[in-house]
Amino acid sequence: MRIAYFCFIIGALAGITGIGLGIYMGASEDHSLSPAHAHLNLLGWVTMTLYGLYHRYAPQSYRWLNWLQVSCAAAGFPIFTAALAYYLATGDVDVIANAWIGALLTLAGMVLFLAVLIRDSGMIAVLMRRSEPQEDIWC
Ligand code: HEM
Ligand code: HEM
Repeated sequence: MRIAYFCFIIGALAGITGIGLGIYMGASEDHSLSPAHAHLNLLGWVTMTLYGLYHRYAPQSYRWLNWLQVSCAAAGFPIFTAALAYYLATGDVDVIANAWIGALLTLAGMVLFLAVLIRDSGMIAVLMRRSEPQEDIWC
């Protein structure tokens, strides 16, 4: 499967769940799950779709790094938002550890996205060229 469609499908699934939760909150007038709803939409629908848009047009070199990046993001936000929702619904503090795991995976997804951007921008190649000994123009 193309990496962009993987991101779009995960984003759409998150959007359906997040918007569904929003409609439920509105209908029930119980907004206690608002932070879970907000992060499901923002980390799931919005962020995954942005990653998808980038990968759709980006060079497809070193695909393993691209897949590692989107996999961390795609695994992180469901763990984070599910743990958050469970905590908000039950007050069970034991689930906070899971929220940490999800949050750190989400962060790893963003750090790896920066690595992908640095790689694709050609910045590394420019820096390596600079560190090579320059020809002496006076000879
Ligand atoms: C039909 C779709 C949606 C419905 C019915 C809905 C409904 C709601 C409701 C009832 C709240 C709680 C408001 C409060 O307690 O003051 C809320 C909060 C929020 N929603 Fe949605 N929502 C929808 C879609 C979205 C989408 C697509 C996003 C983001 C892309 C989003 C982002 C947020 C955020 C960030 C908050 C928290 C706002 C705050 O705490 O000030 N929502 N939404
Ligand atoms: C793993 C990453 C993230 C973590 C751990 C995190 C954590 C938090 C926390 C602890 C709050 C306060 C909730 C409260 O007061 O009830 C919050 C609120 C908020 N965050 Fe995040 N956040 C993350 C990523 C993001 C991202 C990427 C966005 C936007 C694209 C975002 C948008 C918001 C908004 C709009 C609120 C206020 C909404 C509300 O209180 O329901 N967050 N976040």
